[in-house]
Amino acid sequence: MSKIRAKISGVHGWVPPYILTNKELETMVETTDEWIMTRTGIRERHILKGEGLATSDMGAEAVKGLLEKTGTNPEDVDLVICATVTPDMTFPATANIISDKAGMKNAFSFDINAACSGLLFTLITASKYVETGMYKKVVVIGADMMSSITDYTARETCVLFGDAAGAILLEPTTEDVGIMDSIAGTDGSGRNYLHMKSGGSLSPPSHETVDAKEHFIYQEGQPVFKFAVTRMADVSAEIMERNNLTADDISYLVPHQANLRIIDATARRMGVGKEKVMINIDRYGNTTDATIPLCLWEWEDKLKKGDNIILAAFGGGFTWGSIWVKWAY
Ligand code: UT7
Repeated sequence: MSKIRAKISGVHGWVPPYILTNKELETMVETTDEWIMTRTGIRERHILKGEGLATSDMGAEAVKGLLEKTGTNPEDVDLVICATVTPDMTFPATANIISDKAGMKNAFSFDINAACSGLLFTLITASKYVETGMYKKVVVIGADMMSSITDYTARETCVLFGDAAGAILLEPTTEDVGIMDSIAGTDGSGRNYLHMKSGGSLSPPSHETVDAKEHFIYQEGQPVFKFAVTRMADVSAEIMERNNLTADDISYLVPHQANLRIIDATARRMGVGKEKVMINIDRYGNTTDATIPLCLWEWEDKLKKGDNIILAAFGGGFTWGSIWVKWAY
């Protein structure tokens, strides 16, 4: 019997309409468009505004678009996994709320938290449910409302992040396409450099934690940058080497969009030219779990069946990973 693989059979994205430009940020904190562009490559990012709106609303929009374009009945979806660091609530899982909002009544659902590598960890996990034959229609979501945990008086972080959601449909195939190989890693000692200090069991919310601004993203940029550059480049090179893929074999690199300099370093290490790298950080900033599906969604028209694509990410935790995907349509 031929091996069952998980193929990507559709991808969709959703970004909120409000655009926060570098120019507007110049009026909020001591920064410049020039600094942000040269250090990060970000020109603008989208921010979710509106009473009562949250991560699940963006996720539900992405899923509804995905199900419509792939002709999938929401009630036929078996499993929904959402990668997020900004769940609507600590519990229940945002995946459950998205399932409810998008009418996926028969799905089993849960969240995965692996910071900026969350989408990759979720795709890897979801692919196993498909490969074992357990489920036939699996929806993977990457959704983050980073603006809900961003301190807009802290110039070190507020220029970096944006809000968005992306959704991917996985289905079984016996063709030689789909998720071909993956590598994932974590190093919990990196937690000190990138985290949200309070709100968890270590430091539950209190007036003091709010006054100390401990419910916002804390990042020591330089150490994170150093780890990110090496890990993302290493893991992308490793997945190519172990599958005997050369730069010529690769159609696209889809890197997590945290910093243009990290993306460039990864592409250089892989020997892949800039024309093969999906880059949209200039328009969306770092949307954490949504960066990779947003890229696939924007480049979907250019992708051809059989294209070799490398997805790569690095994030808080520390977490990192890469996936070799053969495009299925
Ligand atoms: O997505 C998951 C993982 N996260 C990442 O991969 C992010 C990794 N880190 C980075 O991308 C970069 O470290 C940052 C973009 C966050 C920062 O860039 P950097 O080149 O590492 O800058 P820096 O933190 O070393 O700061 C350089 C200078 C400092 O001033 P002094 O001390 O040299 O006078 C900062 O205070 O730039 C200053 N600075 C700013 N200036 C204008 C920091 N933020 C800003 C700002 N505007 N927004």
